[in-house]
Amino acid sequence: MKIAVFDSHHYDQQALKLANARFGHQLQFFEPRLNASTALLAQGFEAVCPFVNCRLDATTLAQLQQGGTRLVALRAAGFNGIDLAAAKQLGIAVARVPAYSPHAVAEHAFALLLTLVRKTHRAYNRVREADFSLDGLVGFDLHGKTLGLIGTGKIGQVAARIGAGFGCRVLLADPQPDTAFATSIGAHYVARETLLAESDIVSLHLPLSPQTQHLIDAAALAAMKPGAILINTSRGGLVDTGALIAALKSGHLGGVALDVYELEEGVFFQDLSASGIADDQLARLTTFPNVLITSHQGFLTREALANIAETTLENARAFAAGEPLRNAVG
Ligand code: NAI
Repeated sequence: MKIAVFDSHHYDQQALKLANARFGHQLQFFEPRLNASTALLAQGFEAVCPFVNCRLDATTLAQLQQGGTRLVALRAAGFNGIDLAAAKQLGIAVARVPAYSPHAVAEHAFALLLTLVRKTHRAYNRVREADFSLDGLVGFDLHGKTLGLIGTGKIGQVAARIGAGFGCRVLLADPQPDTAFATSIGAHYVARETLLAESDIVSLHLPLSPQTQHLIDAAALAAMKPGAILINTSRGGLVDTGALIAALKSGHLGGVALDVYELEEGVFFQDLSASGIADDQLARLTTFPNVLITSHQGFLTREALANIAETTLENARAFAAGEPLRNAVG
């Protein structure tokens, strides 16, 4: 199949080319994100392969359809950037990679958490400046702390196991609880309000949807324990950034780690070191010593990239062969 791969970087290209040796698709790599202003590039491609910050709204999808595109083979799990109703109306199929390595994202959440609580980001810089002092680097043990996980699907469950391994008391919140899983690791499902009020660390592992947009707003932040830590490796829109900054300024939150940001589109995955950050809220967040931001890299492990490439190309193969799309969305 002729596939136009958007928002593609060296690491994507490497993984897709390697996996494509088995599939023999015609891959063309484009650096820009797919949106209404770049959709023309996909003219003549039966399939497009967007990533998380591509914007496939109704206009973009109509342009794609006119250009002959019949499949959107998303190389990600979250599909909040695609207007599924419009795709359906236009007869464009949408497939995704529902699971590739829940470990990659859950482990990244803990990489961020440990960095934040043990202040290794600050220690690293000090030592490079030959400053071996310890003032200001006091952290806390994860052992014995309460870890609250909102969303207990594939990634949330891996995070819960890791948290239990550290000796945390693990609280869970999910409208579709998996009580057998919770029992197996000694964790407990509680109401979201209870989780927010009792957790020393709150980590988000649920999808972004109109229902979950700004789930963590000013009220939710106020309901969290003073000094608590918030980790978001899911989607930026789950957190109200303005309210988050206010909670940091007041000192209510002990720390925040973000692998995703509400307005990350156009910023994350780009090198803006020469032009600077135009987004004032993001710029403000980077000034707090207890805020750690990574550029949506939770998925970025060798294992996850190989699985993403394999499933994306398999989705395209199944579509071209007229087989039912196992990983269809919408
Ligand atoms: P999943 O579909 O296996 O699990 C999501 C869970 O969230 C489900 O159990 C669902 O019932 C629950 N949920 C839905 N609404 C909820 C609510 N209001 N409150 C609490 N729980 C709710 O998804 P998976 O694979 O665990 O991924 C979770 C999220 O992680 C994805 O939606 C995606 O946004 C994000 N993600 C981030 C990546 C990164 O690179 N940082 C990479 C992959 C996924």
